[in-house]
Amino acid sequence: MTDYTPTPDDKFTFGLWTVGWNGQDVFGSASRPHLDVAHSVHKLAELGAYGITFHDNDVFAIDATDAERQAEIDKLKAALDETGLKVPMATTNLFGHPVFRDGGFTSNDREVRRYAIAKVARNIDLAAELGATTYVMWGGREGAESHASKDIAAALDRYREAVNLLGDYVTEQGYDIRFAIEPKPNEPRGDILLPTIGHALAFISTLDRPEMVGLNPEVGHEEMAGLNFASGVAQALWHGKLFHIDLNGQHGPRFDQDLRFGAGNLRGAFNLVDLLESKGYEGPRHFDFKPPRTEDEDGVWASAAGCMRNYLVLRERAKAFRADPEVKAALEASQVEELSVPTLAEGETLEDIRQASYDIEKLDHGYGFEHLDQLAMDHLLGLR
Ligand code: GCO
Ligand code: MN
Ligand code: MN
Repeated sequence: MTDYTPTPDDKFTFGLWTVGWNGQDVFGSASRPHLDVAHSVHKLAELGAYGITFHDNDVFAIDATDAERQAEIDKLKAALDETGLKVPMATTNLFGHPVFRDGGFTSNDREVRRYAIAKVARNIDLAAELGATTYVMWGGREGAESHASKDIAAALDRYREAVNLLGDYVTEQGYDIRFAIEPKPNEPRGDILLPTIGHALAFISTLDRPEMVGLNPEVGHEEMAGLNFASGVAQALWHGKLFHIDLNGQHGPRFDQDLRFGAGNLRGAFNLVDLLESKGYEGPRHFDFKPPRTEDEDGVWASAAGCMRNYLVLRERAKAFRADPEVKAALEASQVEELSVPTLAEGETLEDIRQASYDIEKLDHGYGFEHLDQLAMDHLLGLR
C-alpha cells in the first residue's frame, strides 16, 4: 500500500492561527487552552510539514512593546532553527482588534487607514527577514453591512492606494516579496470587498504594479459563493496569478466552515488536486482550516495530519486517473485535447471559416463526458 506519510518535499504549510485556534466562536468561549507557538512549530515539523505562515499577532500581541515583540520573534526563530521549518508566507491581522471594526485599508476613518498601512509595512519587514516571498492580504473587515455606510468606489480607491503604496515599499526595500490577495464573499463583514477570484483579478489589473500582485484563493471562500473552486483556480493559473493557495473543506454555501482539507466537497478536492498537480503549480500547499471546537489537542494534530494525508491520497488518485489507458481513450473520445487546437489554422482568416461548408448533422454528436466523469469517480473511490 502506498505510504501517505508527508515529507517537507510535499511543501505542506500551516497557518499558526489554524492549529492555534482555541475554539472561541460567536456562540461560545474557548474550548482549548492557548497553544504555544514554538510547540506548534515542533509538532508540525514532526508531522512532516514544510513550513508555517503567520499573522503578526499570531506571534506577538498588537500592543506588545518593542522588547516583548522581539522576545516572541526570537522564540519563533529558535523553533524554526531547531526544526528547519520555513516561512514562505506572512500576513497581517487587520481584523481582530476593534479598531478595525470598519476595516483597515478601507475604514471610513482615515487615521485607522494610516495605522493599518503602517502595521502592514512593519510586518513586511519581519516577513522579509524570515524569508517569506509571499505576503497575503485578506480583507475580512473591508466591507459593509449596509448600503449607505460605504462608498464602494471610494473604498476601492483606498484599497488600491494601500496596495500601491506597499508595492512601492517592497520595491524600494528590494524585498523578494509578492502580494497575494485572498477573496472572500462575506464573514465577518456582511459583504466583503473583492468577494471572489474574478473581482480580485479585475482589481489587480488596475494597480500600479499588477505584476507584483496575485491571488491566494481559498476553497471554502469560493464555495461559500456557490462557485466551482477548481474552475476559479484554473482561471487564476491562466492569468499567471496563482501566487499561493488556502486549502480547506466546505459543504457548499453556508458559513465559513474551515474543515480540514478533503472534508466537505470531496469531488471538488479531487478536481483541485488533479489541477494543481497536472498544471505544475509549484507553490506551497497551504492549509487554512480550523480543527473543530469539539477537539482537544490530540484532535488538533489529527486534523492537521488529516489535511496532509487527504492531499497525498488525492494526489495519488489523480495521478492514477491520468495514467489510466481507459481514461486516455475517454479523453480522446471526448475531444478534450482538441480544445487546445486554435480554431483558425495558421494563415487562415475569418473569411476561410465563413466560406467553408458545415455538415451540421455530422457535427451533432454526443461527447461521452458522463463516461469520462464516471472513470474519475471510480478512481476517486479507489475502484480502479
Ligand atoms: C478567514 C481567512 C483567513 C485568512 C488569514 C490570512 O476566512 O478567516 O481565510 O484565515 O486566510 O487571515 O490572511
Ligand atoms: Mn477562511
Ligand atoms: Mn484563508
